[in-house]
Amino acid sequence: SNYDIDYIKSKVSTVPDFPKKGIIFRDMFPVFRDPLAVEMLIGHMVHRLASTSKNKIDVVVGLDARGFLFGPLIALRLGAAFVPVRKSGKLCGDTFRVEYALEYGTDAFEIQKGAIQPGQNVVIVDDLIATGGSAFAAGELVVQARANVNSFLFVMELIDLKGRDKLQAPVYSVLQY
Ligand code: PRP
Ligand code: HPA
Repeated sequence: SNYDIDYIKSKVSTVPDFPKKGIIFRDMFPVFRDPLAVEMLIGHMVHRLASTSKNKIDVVVGLDARGFLFGPLIALRLGAAFVPVRKSGKLCGDTFRVEYALEYGTDAFEIQKGAIQPGQNVVIVDDLIATGGSAFAAGELVVQARANVNSFLFVMELIDLKGRDKLQAPVYSVLQY
């Protein structure tokens, strides 16, 4: 409900000039200090997926690092697998790998081969979409695994950056800034 959304939003704090002068940082860790807010948020995200996807979600992919806080909670509710996308060099065994642009230079994301089966239906979850570069790269990894990107789900969206325009599947965010 709108009440729930306003309640969750009231727990996000706004920090001027972090990590650098001129950046307005949205901090979602205070949400986790309030179990009622977490319950509302996860319930809202799961309800949204259940009401927009006609096919069963097989896998929830969460992005390193803050996507790990939401992904497993959503996966548990859906009865889906949780699979992490990690930054370069952190995962053991064979991995699929994709480079993505940072403000200065590039980094890489990886996912373990065999973690997602070809044809599985996958939702990509993160705390926040800014430029959309991270989420786009995660989508590429799911495509490398020959699975289907069902949708992207974010807690927060910085709408002026138009990150959603980069993405190859429906995008949903709970809070817009
Ligand atoms: C932040 C955020 C997203 C990404 C969004 O993560 O959690 O993953 O940036 O930015 P984009 O849409 O422009 O790609 P960060 O890289 O700071 O990593 P962290 O979660 O490990 O702090
Ligand atoms: N909050 C958290 N993570 C971020 C932000 C923000 O405002 N901008 C880019 N990554």
